[in-house]
Amino acid sequence: MSLLFSPLKLRSLTLRNRIVMSPMCQYSAQDGHVTDWHLLHYPTRAVGGVGLILVEATAVEARGVISPDDLGIWSDEHVAGLRALAQRIKATGAVPGIQLAHAGRKAGVSSPWQGGKPLHRFTPVAPSPLPFNQGWPVPQALDEAGLEEVCTAFCQGARRALAAGFEVLELHMAHGYLLHSFLSPLTNQRSDGYGGSRENRMRFPLSVVEAVRTVWPAELPLWVRVSASDWVEGGWGPDDTVAFAAELQKRGVDLLDCSSGGALPGIKIPVAPGYQVPFAAQVRAATGLSTGAVGLISEPLQAEAILQAGQADVVLLGRVLLREPYWPYRAAQALGERAWPVQYERAF
Ligand SMILES: Cc1cc2nc3c(=O)[nH]c(=O)nc-3n(C[C@H](O)[C@H](O)[C@H](O)COP(=O)(O)O)c2cc1C
Repeated sequence: MSLLFSPLKLRSLTLRNRIVMSPMCQYSAQDGHVTDWHLLHYPTRAVGGVGLILVEATAVEARGVISPDDLGIWSDEHVAGLRALAQRIKATGAVPGIQLAHAGRKAGVSSPWQGGKPLHRFTPVAPSPLPFNQGWPVPQALDEAGLEEVCTAFCQGARRALAAGFEVLELHMAHGYLLHSFLSPLTNQRSDGYGGSRENRMRFPLSVVEAVRTVWPAELPLWVRVSASDWVEGGWGPDDTVAFAAELQKRGVDLLDCSSGGALPGIKIPVAPGYQVPFAAQVRAATGLSTGAVGLISEPLQAEAILQAGQADVVLLGRVLLREPYWPYRAAQALGERAWPVQYERAF
C-alpha cells in the first residue's frame, strides 16, 4: 500500500489518507459569514477524496481579516454557517479542519481581483508600528491589554470552531500575518518581553498556543502553520523554526505545516516543485514532530516520494486542488490504489 493512501492517526482522529487541502482564501464571505460558494467549493474537494480539508484563514477578530471578504469567527453568529460547512465536509468521509488567523499589519486589503490594495478602513495591529509597504497603514503596536485581547480572540475562535464541528484546528503563524510578525526580527522591533531575543519573539505566539490548547480538546489535533524562512538575511530562518517547533511540541501541537515567506514585500523566493519540503524534513528530523509539506506539490508520485523519504507526514495541496478537485482519484490510479467512494465504483 502507498503511504499517500495510508490512514493517519492523529490523537482520536484517523485521516483516511495523507492528502490535505491547504487553506486557501476564497474571498467569498459576507461579513465573515459562509456563503453558498463555500458550501459548494469545500465539499467538492471532500467528495474528491482528500483526507482533511483545512478551511481558509478565518479571522478571529474583525480587524484581523485579510480582506473584507474573508471568513470570520469573531462572533457567535458565524457558527451556524461554519457548522453547515463542517457537516457537509464530514458527510463525505473527510475530516473538517479550519485555520484560525489574524492578519496583523497586513489586514484590511481588497480582494485580489479588486487589486489587493489597503482599504484604510481601520487601524491594524502589530508587534511594532511598521507599515508593510509604502501606502499601507501604520499599525498600532499591541500593548499588554491588546495582546490579551488577541489571545482571547484566538481562544473564542477555537471554542466556536469546536461548536461548529471542526476537528482539526490550525493556527496561522505564517505569511507575515500577526503571529509570524512577532516571530520575525524583521517585523518585531519591540524592547519589552515580546521582542529582542528569539525566546522573547516566540513568547506571544507560544502563549496563544498554550491558551488555545486549554480550550481545544485533548483528543483533537492542533496544528500550526509557519513561515519556516523569511528568505532574507537577518530574518527568521529554518534553525529558528526548529527551535520553535520544539517549543510547540512541548505545548501539545501535533503537526507543523511548513510554508515560507510573506514577512516583507518584494523578497525573491526560489520557487520550484517541492521547494518548501526541506523545511518540513528538517523539523521532522530534528524534533520528531510530525510535519506537513506544502508548495508546488502537484504530482502523485512526487507526493508519495516525499512521504516515503520521511520528509513529512502529510502533503498539503493548494492550487492543484483548485484545478483538479478530484486529484486524489488520479493519484489513486497512479499509485494502484482503490480510493474512490462506492458511488463511483463503476466509473473508475
Ligand atoms: C487563492 C489562494 C489563497 C490562499 N489562502 C491561504 C490561506 O488562507 N491561508 C494560508 O495559510 N495559505 C493560503 N494560501 C497558500 C496555500 O495554502 C499554499 O500554501 C500555497 O498555495 C502553496 O501551495 P500550492 O503550490 O500547492 O498551491 C493561499 C493560496 C492561494 C493560491
